[in-house]
Amino acid sequence: MAVAQRARRWLQCLFVCLTIHFSLVSAEFFKPFNVSYDHRALIIDGKRRMLNSAGIHYPRATPEMWPDLIAKSKEGGVDVIQTYAFWNGHEPVRGQYNFEGRYDIIKFVKLVGSSGLYFHLRIGPYVCAEWNFGGFPVWLRDIPGIEFRTDNAPFKEEMQRFVKKLVDMMRGEKLFSWQGGPIIMLQIENEYGNIEKSFGQGGKEYVKWAANMALDLGAGVPWVMCKQTDAPDNIIDACNGYYCDGYKPNSFNKPTIWTEDWDGWYTSWGGRLPHRPVEDLAFAVARFFQRGGSFQNYYMYFGGTNFGRTSGGPFYITSYDYDAPIDEYGLLSEPKWGHLKDLHASIKLCEPALVAADSPQYIKLGPKQEAHVYTSQGSCSAFLANIDEQKTTTVTFKGQKYDLPPWSVSILPDCRNTVFNTAKVGAQTSIKTVEFDMPLSSNNSLQKVITENNGSYVTKSWMTVKEPVGIWGENNFTAQGILEHLNVTKDVSDYLWYLTRIFVSDDDIAFWEEHGIPALTIDSTRDVLRVYVNSQLQGSVVGRWVKVFQPVRFHQGYNDLLLLSETVGLQNYGAFMERDGGGFRGQIKLTGFRNGDIDLSKSLWTYQVGLQGEFLKIYSIEENDKAGWNDLTLDADPSIFTWYKTYFDAPPGTDPVALDLGSMGKGQAWVNGHHIGRYWTLVAPNNGCQNTCDYRGAYHSDKCTTNCGKPTQTWYHVPRSWLQASNNLLVIFEETGGNPFKISVNLRTAQTICSQVSESHYPPPQKWPKQDSFDGKLSANDLTPEMNLRCRDGYMISSIKFASYGTPQGSCQKFSRGNCHAPNSLPIVSEACLGRSSCSIKISNPVFGGDPCRHTVKTLAVEARCSRSSNIGKSQF
Ligand SMILES: *[C@@H]1O[C@H](CO)[C@@H](O)[C@H](O)[C@H]1NC(C)=O
Ligand SMILES: *[C@@H]1O[C@H](CO)[C@@H](O)[C@H](O)[C@H]1NC(C)=O
Ligand SMILES: *[C@@H]1O[C@H](CO)[C@@H](O)[C@H](O)[C@H]1NC(C)=O
Ligand SMILES: *[C@@H]1O[C@H](CO)[C@@H](O)[C@H](O)[C@H]1NC(C)=O
Ligand SMILES: *[C@@H]1O[C@H](CO)[C@@H](O)[C@H](O)[C@H]1NC(C)=O
Repeated sequence: MAVAQRARRWLQCLFVCLTIHFSLVSAEFFKPFNVSYDHRALIIDGKRRMLNSAGIHYPRATPEMWPDLIAKSKEGGVDVIQTYAFWNGHEPVRGQYNFEGRYDIIKFVKLVGSSGLYFHLRIGPYVCAEWNFGGFPVWLRDIPGIEFRTDNAPFKEEMQRFVKKLVDMMRGEKLFSWQGGPIIMLQIENEYGNIEKSFGQGGKEYVKWAANMALDLGAGVPWVMCKQTDAPDNIIDACNGYYCDGYKPNSFNKPTIWTEDWDGWYTSWGGRLPHRPVEDLAFAVARFFQRGGSFQNYYMYFGGTNFGRTSGGPFYITSYDYDAPIDEYGLLSEPKWGHLKDLHASIKLCEPALVAADSPQYIKLGPKQEAHVYTSQGSCSAFLANIDEQKTTTVTFKGQKYDLPPWSVSILPDCRNTVFNTAKVGAQTSIKTVEFDMPLSSNNSLQKVITENNGSYVTKSWMTVKEPVGIWGENNFTAQGILEHLNVTKDVSDYLWYLTRIFVSDDDIAFWEEHGIPALTIDSTRDVLRVYVNSQLQGSVVGRWVKVFQPVRFHQGYNDLLLLSETVGLQNYGAFMERDGGGFRGQIKLTGFRNGDIDLSKSLWTYQVGLQGEFLKIYSIEENDKAGWNDLTLDADPSIFTWYKTYFDAPPGTDPVALDLGSMGKGQAWVNGHHIGRYWTLVAPNNGCQNTCDYRGAYHSDKCTTNCGKPTQTWYHVPRSWLQASNNLLVIFEETGGNPFKISVNLRTAQTICSQVSESHYPPPQKWPKQDSFDGKLSANDLTPEMNLRCRDGYMISSIKFASYGTPQGSCQKFSRGNCHAPNSLPIVSEACLGRSSCSIKISNPVFGGDPCRHTVKTLAVEARCSRSSNIGKSQF
């Protein structure tokens, strides 16, 4: 942009929008460059590139967290940040846009650009993403004649408007690569190939329309369609899955792109917690590049949190941790983050050879062993794979022998020396804990008493107010018949009350004495239904489109039959989502009356959307006094449909904050008016978890699960930026009964770190040649393995719990000495590490005063504790 033009815009900005300073001044992050592609790779500024990408969804974190997440991604060795755009967050009301706070996507893209990373923007605008309604605004379903994601004029018009809006905004802010911005690639639609058949010819037309519509927007960077085998010529079709190394795009001109590398999985209330072992994940990534892949994105690199009512479903939990390399709280998940960092560094060393060769040379090394060799003048890089799921195999490659662990890839940047093997994790492990050592105290009058409860500090002062069961306000209405749940609520609340009146005669009562009590039957319902008669709960039903048979007790005369229909995250996947809705389907009747069934579908029903407390916003700082709060006594019984509030001080320091809601039932929580999400203490099945997780063999989401027999989620992230030093208002709405006195506020830390590195490991990337000075040759003394330990910022190594150089056994927190042990292991490690924030130790006999056992492969195992450095401890907001 010309200087004069820039100045003019700046002046405009001064006059028009003093408060929006800076954001209107376009920053150039890069020298403008074009992006194109050929069959081998994206071509960025004229050069083919091998790229790793980190999936981070901006609204699943706070803007205050974004810089750190981006910095940790960059340090982890990725080149690109990828996100979906969340339409229902950006356009909550048709025509009224929101690009503020967690939805300030422009700020997010600019932060990525200023860190020197590229950006992949997946507009969709259908995004799935385990996000409420797959990202569609709920008002979309009210547009007359609309059918989602097919050749339907009303839908196409709305979709085009939003996609164009985003592209125009990005261009207006000069965020495309050719404008000096970070955006190198876009996406239209999302996994449409999965459901295209449901729409017949309309689906095929829609694909062509979506592609042309996108291209016509003139964004000037390539577009992808993922899982779209019939993507048109000038759109790249891309792969999503646990493995994409066999993937071939639908034309020879397109590069092999992996838009979603599922490095973990999402979780439902009452489900187990999935984990994908990093050895297998690294194997999948290495195989992808080995077999010609060129762009790979971790879905997710940081999963984050479904704040508010943004989680999809039904029944997806508030945490979207995803077992990602950066955890829900923004802490590194180790060894996942570290092992992938080493992997990325090794791929970088191979990049010159990978991009120079049009295709690799294939060498079969054994029945399940193979090499792919990328050669060009001056450079040669090779990947040696062993896809045998059981055994280590020794192969011969270019006259040298290589040991390949099962289900692993060795990476040889010089076609000679291995710098990395996917199954040999040199990165440290860290054990996350929640710490109770930060007493909560507050000078607020509500919270004078603080007791120590098994080490955790809980507030003893709670106030409470009942939520009415049933119709509570002037804004109720009466209509004939059963109205569809979403048609009534428009999803402004999870809750919808239905009330009708039933007359019961003496004869009915007599009839029931003989034949048993009547029942409410419904053909189909979702997600939660609670049935009350005369304010007494008769029963609850939980499920997705399940039949209801609920016995009900009436008395003689008029009875109030009250139904509470609840959504727990709207459907986010599948064809015909506009028809999915919530509440009830089919027949709804009372059976077992003397004169036959009573059809309730034609009755008069009174409707009430939401809770009174939601309507009054009693969770907010401004409005919470509108409720008639009473003190809660310590011996109060757990009570349903109840609001609770208290105040608490923020724990000092910068560690992430977690709220323990494990003592509660089901409901929602707010801190200082910020909705931290739904909570539900549903317990995972008692069985189906694995004691040990074997990384070998193809992964699926049930393979390595934990948390059996425990509530799926008890910890809820409260972002630091939502807290002030003291007097933070915590408001809870509880539906089924819980004990607020056991709620505690805690810190999430990783204080125990472990590492296990053997002589057969490879040197860490710090010892490899720098990428730009790599001349294709690695020298032998570069190749001694090394152990590296590091505490997170603000922490240092305060004790060594275990150290043994020899043949130690076990794993982190369960290490023991083996037959071979160098007696000075502990003093050597202590000397190298104590009092430091990080340390490294070479895995070689001289370091430990000689060989403790000849002809044996030695391993160094260390468990250390990180403690806060003395200079921190002050609150930081
Ligand atoms: C990008 O491509 C366009 C069209 O071919 C060309 O006009 C422009 O100069 C190129 N920009 C750069 C930075 O190479
Ligand atoms: C609370 O009160 C004590 C003494 O009354 C004072 O020293 C302390 O600074 C106060 N803390 C806060 C967070 O206001
Ligand atoms: C404290 O912990 C012990 C042992 O874990 C447990 O039995 C006891 O119920 C706990 N007390 C409270 C008040 O939670
Ligand atoms: C329901 O709405 C009607 C009409 O607005 C009103 O008269 C009535 O008081 C409301 N019921 C409750 C319980 O507020
Ligand atoms: C929801 O309302 C729309 C009109 O706004 C109507 O066409 C549709 O049939 C309703 N859905 C159900 C299930 O009643």
